[in-house]
Amino acid sequence: MSTYTVLGAQWGDEGKGKITDYLAEKADLVVRYQGGNNAGHTVVIGENTYKLHLIPSGIFYSDKLAVIANGVVVNPFALLEEIQYLSDKGITTDNLRISDRAHIILPTHLKLDALKEEKRGKAKIGTTIKGIGPAYVDKMERSGLRFADIFYPEVFEKILRKNIEDKNELIEIFYGEEPFDVDQTVKEVMAALETLKPYVVDTVELLQEANQADKKILLEGAQGTLLDIDFGTYPYVTSSHPTTGGVSIGTGLSPFDLDGAIGVVKAYLTRVGKGPFPTELENETGEWIREKGFEFGTTTGRPRRCGWLDTVMLRYTAQINGLTSLVVTKLDTLGGLEELEICSGYKLNGKLVKTFPASLQTLALCEPVYETHPGWSVESMQGIKTYEDLPETAKKYLARIEELTGVSVDMFSIGPKRSETIMRKEIF
Ligand code: GDP
Ligand code: IMO
Ligand code: MG
Repeated sequence: MSTYTVLGAQWGDEGKGKITDYLAEKADLVVRYQGGNNAGHTVVIGENTYKLHLIPSGIFYSDKLAVIANGVVVNPFALLEEIQYLSDKGITTDNLRISDRAHIILPTHLKLDALKEEKRGKAKIGTTIKGIGPAYVDKMERSGLRFADIFYPEVFEKILRKNIEDKNELIEIFYGEEPFDVDQTVKEVMAALETLKPYVVDTVELLQEANQADKKILLEGAQGTLLDIDFGTYPYVTSSHPTTGGVSIGTGLSPFDLDGAIGVVKAYLTRVGKGPFPTELENETGEWIREKGFEFGTTTGRPRRCGWLDTVMLRYTAQINGLTSLVVTKLDTLGGLEELEICSGYKLNGKLVKTFPASLQTLALCEPVYETHPGWSVESMQGIKTYEDLPETAKKYLARIEELTGVSVDMFSIGPKRSETIMRKEIF
């Protein structure tokens, strides 16, 4: 038996898609357990680049099941678009399964996401406007719609209609905007869901059976630990649990069936959207990293904010998730910088702090304490096939990350391609 989670150890976009695709070769099932199409996971195979938002990054192996589990919120229109996108590229989705317990994102959720953001004004979160927050609100408020409901069209239509009518009240009266045409929206949503019916199964049963049969299950997190609704920089977070804790809730696998968690870490740090970022580089170096690393959002195209690696954050991430391995990506992007900084602690009111604070006010007062490390050249990152091929400075950089986090760097990556991934130890 082997059940491992690949999750983001920072603020998302660490390279989870790439690492999941790489490890998927050995998996029987690859499973998304939370989030929705706010995620943007890039997989580069040979000369082809694929951008996935909802479908697990195991989809490129037609002999493995790609499962959208119950913790995910699914926009049926976005999913159909993604299925078509893959089909146009010659990738089959016959191996895709959707949980009958997964909640459905409706067009009203997207509208409310946008309106709410506008109303927040300066305090806006910088969401992806994919309706994620409002869909999870409905789930928690117990007014959401689930895939299981679509098999009872009359009941489903009634709940759907009521949901849209209620949202229309908010849209019209509170926000003063045009309401949705209820009949038209109901028709469109039901037609889209009808097309998705063949993919819908009881994924709890599917995963339980796979687990019993000693299949290898790879779980693919979306977003990152610092975007977790409980453990992230609240309220500048997403509305789900990208952390290991979210796996059991989001799949129906028992927490006691999880063998380990693989934390994906970018060799530096990025963040899209608003919120605090102690090691942010609002200068030429930050600009340089953004250009060199093509740090623009996969889902929204927004420029990502860039900064130095923060190991206060990584220690916190390692503890919360029980990380058994780290994977460091984008070492090549830093190539060419003479010196690199690693944040090893924060200074708060003259004292050294090594824990990640809950309060954003406290976090804003924290000054990063940096260690300076020599960098490596662009050329030294070419043709790397094993850990031994790395320049000494890069080896030391990885060793220091291990020391500061207490987790071993078992894999690293020096380019976007599947082939530019190096394993130091079997981790799945
Ligand atoms: P995810 O959301 O965690 O899956 O990450 P994204 O796909 O949003 O962003 C990661 C970006 O970095 C993508 O464009 C990847 O193709 C790219 N990438 C991943 N690993 C590496 C690497 O080691 N080097 C370089 N240069 N790019 C990488
Ligand atoms: P992947 O899986 C980076 C950020 C948004 C915003 C906040 C809330 O590609 O790593 P939401 O739309 O979820 O309500 O937005 O979370 N965010 C991400 N940032 N990578 C992601 O996914 C993200 N998904 C959401 O920018 O700050
Ligand atoms: Mg991404």
